[in-house]
Amino acid sequence: MKINENYLKMPGSYLFATIGRKVKAYQAANPDAGIIRLGIGDVTLPLAPAIVEEMSRASLEMGTPEGFHGYPDYEGYEFLRSAIRDHDYVGRGLEVGLDEIFVNDGAKCDSADLSDIFSRDCKVAVCDPVYPVYVSSNALAGRAGDYIEEKERWSGLIYLPCTEGNGFVPEFPEETPDLIYLCFPNNPTGGTITKEQLQGWVDYANRKDAVIIFDAAYEAYISDPSLPRSIYECEGARTCAIEMRSFSKNAGFTGVRLGFTIVPKDLVRDGVSLNKLWLSHQENKFNGVSYTIQRAGAAVYTPEGQRQTAEQVAYYMNNARTIRQGLTDAGYKVFGGENAPYVWLQVPAGMTSWEFFDQLLERANVVGTPGSGFGPMGEGYFRLTGFGTYENTLAALERIRKM
Ligand code: MLT
Repeated sequence: MKINENYLKMPGSYLFATIGRKVKAYQAANPDAGIIRLGIGDVTLPLAPAIVEEMSRASLEMGTPEGFHGYPDYEGYEFLRSAIRDHDYVGRGLEVGLDEIFVNDGAKCDSADLSDIFSRDCKVAVCDPVYPVYVSSNALAGRAGDYIEEKERWSGLIYLPCTEGNGFVPEFPEETPDLIYLCFPNNPTGGTITKEQLQGWVDYANRKDAVIIFDAAYEAYISDPSLPRSIYECEGARTCAIEMRSFSKNAGFTGVRLGFTIVPKDLVRDGVSLNKLWLSHQENKFNGVSYTIQRAGAAVYTPEGQRQTAEQVAYYMNNARTIRQGLTDAGYKVFGGENAPYVWLQVPAGMTSWEFFDQLLERANVVGTPGSGFGPMGEGYFRLTGFGTYENTLAALERIRKM
């Protein structure tokens, strides 16, 4: 018997697991420390009333002979997929069909699993810094080569630097990739991409026969109407792009778990429809999302659900703007926090991201995320989230100012 040795190549544990352990150890040694968590992007507001009511109603329905539901559809119930199609796509003038929508239990799994339908030999391009799941899932699948300790990079990946110099939007690489991961509004930098820039990537992918996996988990945080909320706003995206969305950040489903992926039927490689391959993936490896949770998801699209979740997004965006302003006033250089819930700050000169993390934890009892955890170009930066409570956000800022 042989194990998957790619697991042994992983340089450490998952970023947010490492942070969780560090914070737990600090809390155990300092039980009176009032720790404020602005690290992992986990929401803090309770679920909106329209969602809770529908979730409760659907739970009771499950206890009746007429309303009981067993195994759900692999692609998701039609009532939820219709709401997604009508509200997020057709209602915005975008072409997406019901059978192009695949409901899942949150975007993280599909972020990791989508690469299953591509060959092991695919050349993968990721932004740097980047949400760690795109890198680790490809590394575990044997598509990233070896981890080079000194460079803090995987030998087989193409890295697309996202820096202050390029406005945190990657440029086309010299080496041609097969698979390109893009996330906008961006995690972790809080940066955005213009429609023209995204169109450039769509044209590039079509020219090179590459596929873009576009993570739009934070689209609800866009307030600038000129910014694209879906990659399908770009001409030609249906022949080169898969889009992932989540209910975690726009409706507070981090603990509930619900998301969806769009795989257009026009997306064909090697003469094969990727939509068919992904359906096959879901049928073989996934048993759907529970009826109750899908009903809760559909409640997000009701007028009440829309109003209540928009209020929550506005609350978190107010936090993000407050962090941005507070840190700017305190002399930090900051990015993001305008059309995204993340604020990306430059750590004081002479410190590494992890040193700043330790200092913030020990001296201010505030938890953030070290930029280097998202990739080598994240070194010297630090991420704070707007997902805390407003009171904690203000308290954290005050402590950072004092520090
Ligand atoms: C983050 O903090 O980057 C995200 O919350 C992680 C996730 O969505 O899985």
